[in-house]
Amino acid sequence: LPQHRQNRPAEAEDPAGEPIELPTYPEGIPAFVNEPDTDVALPVNQQWARDITARAADPAWLSRQPTPLNLEYDDVDDLVAVARDAGEQWAARPAAERAEILYRAADLMNARRGHLLTVAAAEVGKSLEQTDPEVSEAIDFARYYAHSALALEEVEHAEFTPDRVVLVTPPWNFPLAIPFGSTVSALAAGAAVIHKPSKPTPRCSMALLEILWEAGVPREVLHGIYPDEREVGKKLVSHDDVDRVILTGASETAAMFRSWKPELQINAETSGKNALVVTPAADRDLAVADLVKSAFGHAGQKCSAASLGILVGSVYHSERFRRQLVDAASSLVIDWPTNLKASMGPLTEQPSEKLHRALTTLEPDETWLLEPRQLDDTGRLWSPGIKEGVKPGSFFHLTEVFGPVLGLMRAKDLDEAIELQNAVDFGLTGGIHSLDPEEVRSWVDRVEVGNAYVNRGITGAIVQRQSFGGWKQSSVGLGSKAGGPNYVMLFGQWNDDPQLS
Ligand code: SER
Repeated sequence: LPQHRQNRPAEAEDPAGEPIELPTYPEGIPAFVNEPDTDVALPVNQQWARDITARAADPAWLSRQPTPLNLEYDDVDDLVAVARDAGEQWAARPAAERAEILYRAADLMNARRGHLLTVAAAEVGKSLEQTDPEVSEAIDFARYYAHSALALEEVEHAEFTPDRVVLVTPPWNFPLAIPFGSTVSALAAGAAVIHKPSKPTPRCSMALLEILWEAGVPREVLHGIYPDEREVGKKLVSHDDVDRVILTGASETAAMFRSWKPELQINAETSGKNALVVTPAADRDLAVADLVKSAFGHAGQKCSAASLGILVGSVYHSERFRRQLVDAASSLVIDWPTNLKASMGPLTEQPSEKLHRALTTLEPDETWLLEPRQLDDTGRLWSPGIKEGVKPGSFFHLTEVFGPVLGLMRAKDLDEAIELQNAVDFGLTGGIHSLDPEEVRSWVDRVEVGNAYVNRGITGAIVQRQSFGGWKQSSVGLGSKAGGPNYVMLFGQWNDDPQLS
């Protein structure tokens, strides 16, 4: 297990271009080990954390950070042509070279950890507590996929030809880990990448691209393109010479991309409506803690978040359980990331129509156990909400709302709980809290989700240990999961089946 303790040294205020000695790996790259997070509670890390929040609070600091601007090419066709040529050369390099560059990028990520956290806090208000693990995950992706690149070359009897140009369209809710992970997976395969940041997070993306360029990825191989204009996106997605799109976003976006180019090769992680089941055989204290963390971490703005708690039998009727849940949710400190004590931050944008409905209205039979409140006039800072009495087939049962609302549903037994869980069109994450091995087995066998967690929260998959991917409408075109053994080999073609050879 990674040790969650590290001393973070002070970092320069604007570190881009600061000389840093990058290691080389003459003996080959090291074995994969998960990168530890920072323990901000340690006194030795507190100054580091205070520097980050102080910088993030200064609007002038953010305005000095660059966004990716594609000024070098006249239009999308030129950009794609340059990437296509460069992709061929990148793929021709030995996998060991690509792997070493990715390892160096991981080292740079660690050296720039504070800078990355500052950009994320300033740009979208994401807290250190939430972004520090994102940097660790991004580092894990780079190192893990570096090993995948080496493994691709070692497959016997079948040859891999990578895509030449991959378009990466990441989401805004994980502005560091997912943009970086998608980009390095395609680079590891040997493809050139055009990275189109999400609208609210261009500066996070730019900080990541700068690290990759500095680590040795040629400029022609990796491009950032911004502003986020629909016409540019459409041209790129439907371009004949863009081989593939990696998307993390809403199912509607995946469908829109497909409508632009029906034969599109797309690997998409899409929406989720995830439930955590708690049975009478659960460790209830643990279940409460995991429900609260999974529902309200990053204000519920995770595709993996727990939006439903399905409480079986006596758990639903337990006054004590409800009180504990409400107490735990009420004890969260809700504030902007400049407050280091904050345990739940703001929404990245104004609530969408669906989220607004979930935050402000009750469907028939629903009641508030904890009513959410808008805490300031930005419209973005909300306290958590818990509603009970969510009915099968209702709006809240079936709709992804992407915010800090947890709905409780009653199931008379485990069979009914699984039915309620599987009635959702999506199938991203799900969990069960039960100390009964029979119940757990029965649930694992039947639940229709990509990531099924037992006696654990349902967010925060860890590279290699919990490769991440969806089922049903949570996934389009994916056969393998991010951070897992076969992910990189999706980004190209095999002349024979690598499994059967
Ligand atoms: N990988 C993230 C998680 O597991 C979601 O994208 O929470």
